[in-house]
Amino acid sequence: MTVASDRHRGRKPGAHIAVTGVSHRFRRNATYALTDVDFEIQPCEAVALVGRSGCGKSTLLHIMSGLTAPTKGEIRLDGALVKGPSPECVVMFQQPHLFPWMTVAQSVGLGLKFAGRPKKEIEARVHELLALVELDGYEKRNVQELSGGQQQRVALARSLAVHPEVLFLDEPFSALDLVTRRALQQDVRRIASEIGITLVIVTHDIPEAVTMADRAIVMAPNPGRIFDIVPIDLDDADRSERSAAAQAAQERLQKSFEGASGRSVELAAARLAGVETLRLAAAGQR
Ligand SMILES: Nc1ncnc2c1ncn2[C@@H]1O[C@H](COP(=O)(O)OP(=O)(O)O)[C@@H](O)[C@H]1O
Ligand SMILES: [Mg+2]
Repeated sequence: MTVASDRHRGRKPGAHIAVTGVSHRFRRNATYALTDVDFEIQPCEAVALVGRSGCGKSTLLHIMSGLTAPTKGEIRLDGALVKGPSPECVVMFQQPHLFPWMTVAQSVGLGLKFAGRPKKEIEARVHELLALVELDGYEKRNVQELSGGQQQRVALARSLAVHPEVLFLDEPFSALDLVTRRALQQDVRRIASEIGITLVIVTHDIPEAVTMADRAIVMAPNPGRIFDIVPIDLDDADRSERSAAAQAAQERLQKSFEGASGRSVELAAARLAGVETLRLAAAGQR
């Protein structure tokens, strides 16, 4: 596939990401949404941020992608401090956010048009991106004629058009039906590995993390923090939900997920009861 040759066109491969000492609160005196988050992601690695709702996954993704400045700490992409949004980092959200009056080709080529690229180059790039996301021949269709899954494929192609080094996904498939979701999960992992890009996926769906990620960072709430890091060491062929290896990986991750949620319930109960010693004891186990 043509886009797979990106790597050989002098384009930088997926970036290394270092998250160091990140804490965040939305207002002075508010409780911290994230505390002391430290981890690294290797170039072209796929990492899932997993945890129940409210544990700070989206906040962390926004900070990593430069959309939000952290209260404390820093993010570095290949050693360079992240100071704001940049074309190296693209974010895909649950809704594809396509302009309803545009065709598929116009949507995918939008970033390139803004960048002032020549028409011929945009056409060629759009063509190869549509092949990559398996929408060959859809160039002239209006985006409103497409299904939800196809619209997410257009959004994906649009994100990849500018040759980013990191693709951030915030629960991007949760509005889709199961079959469509599973197909996109597999395709995004395949595409990321073909073009050599670092993937960061926010999800509360354990099978999604196992299908897509090389590692899961399990987060706990109140305050949002890293609870556990679980390697998902599977061959791509074993990542389907039905394989025994995938099921074992899902069980491991589920256990950790429940641990992260369970202890926070304990902590919340302790706080309510004013049992400070229990809170301190639990913090000491970190
Ligand atoms: N813009 C905001 N202003 C104030 N609080 C926020 C804002 N965004 C998120 N929060 C709070 O920060 C915490 C983490 O939220 P979020 O990162 O959205 O969690 P998740 O994505 O894991 O569900 C929650 O308590 C949420 O209410
Ligand atoms: Mg979220």
